[in-house]
Amino acid sequence: MTEAVLQTALPLPILRRGKVREVYIIDDAHLLLVASDRISAFDVVMGQAIPQKGAVLTQLSAWWFARLADLGPSHLVSARTDEILERIPALAAHRDEVAGRSMLVRRTEPMAFECVIRGYISGSAWKEYKASGTLAGEPMPRGLVESARLEQPIFSPATKAETGHDENVTFARVTNELGAATADALRDRSMAIYQRGRMLAAERGIIIADTKFEFGRDAAGELVLIDEVLTPDSSRFWPADDYAPGRGQASFDKQPLRDWLLERQGVGEWNGEAPGPVLPREVVLMTSRRYLDAYRRITGHELPEIV
Ligand SMILES: Nc1ncnc2c1ncn2[C@@H]1O[C@H](COP(=O)(O)OP(=O)(O)OP(=O)(O)O)[C@@H](O)[C@H]1O
Ligand SMILES: [Mg+2]
Repeated sequence: MTEAVLQTALPLPILRRGKVREVYIIDDAHLLLVASDRISAFDVVMGQAIPQKGAVLTQLSAWWFARLADLGPSHLVSARTDEILERIPALAAHRDEVAGRSMLVRRTEPMAFECVIRGYISGSAWKEYKASGTLAGEPMPRGLVESARLEQPIFSPATKAETGHDENVTFARVTNELGAATADALRDRSMAIYQRGRMLAAERGIIIADTKFEFGRDAAGELVLIDEVLTPDSSRFWPADDYAPGRGQASFDKQPLRDWLLERQGVGEWNGEAPGPVLPREVVLMTSRRYLDAYRRITGHELPEIV
């Protein structure tokens, strides 16, 4: 097992560093998406890395891309370390840093909207519904309880905020800005991917309550599924065992971390802002195990030692 990586420093031009992922430019047509082992909770990126988390995000995305291929093109070229090193010789001396966590992808022009699908009503959607009876600005049936399963999942697009929270927008706004054909395609592709993901994960004891997809246009103008897909970081995973509507649900992956952070806040050891408190070893390891467990449950096998 390679060491946990808080931040990479690869000899390539960098496009952006997100809270978790780092995006490097390979050439006009390709990017390298590198998932670090950083973790954020309550919007604060913690100072400790979670071993194997980056590899889980990357390899789980790659696993899904393979199982979603018939629903439309994705950006994935390769998530295999040997193949990536072969294609990008500059990385030869950085094998440990990139192994397992890196994904070579086709570069696209990203769409300005994030495509959120909600199959259960939770988080900001529950807040909106409680306040106004709507979801993504559309009226919803009355009497829904927190965490209720929506028989028909909802497309709930959002703008990508550079800082702070993404803002939920109506489908009409997406249609206005991108045209009806593109808006419909984003909605229909997102729905099809979510439906397959929710069904498959449910068979393995994980509820995918909601999830976010991103799409881009390739040089030929085709819509391509990009970014990470159906991971614990882009989705709300709930353990199906503990699910009960009418209350909030524990998070499959981040709950021990969140509980620990709330305790620190409760005793006045943390004010909820960056920097986060130093995570104890047990919390780090427990969280790492949760991510590995999500990978194992969904794919049916262990995360390979060498990818
Ligand atoms: N194939 C692609 N072509 C162009 N851009 C892409 C592609 N795949 C992913 N991206 C862009 O790379 C970004 C990934 O980095 P991002 O900054 O979102 O990292 P992150 O760790 O998810 O951080 P944050 O939590 O701040 O979103 C995506 O938002 C997406 O717009
Ligand atoms: Mg992102």
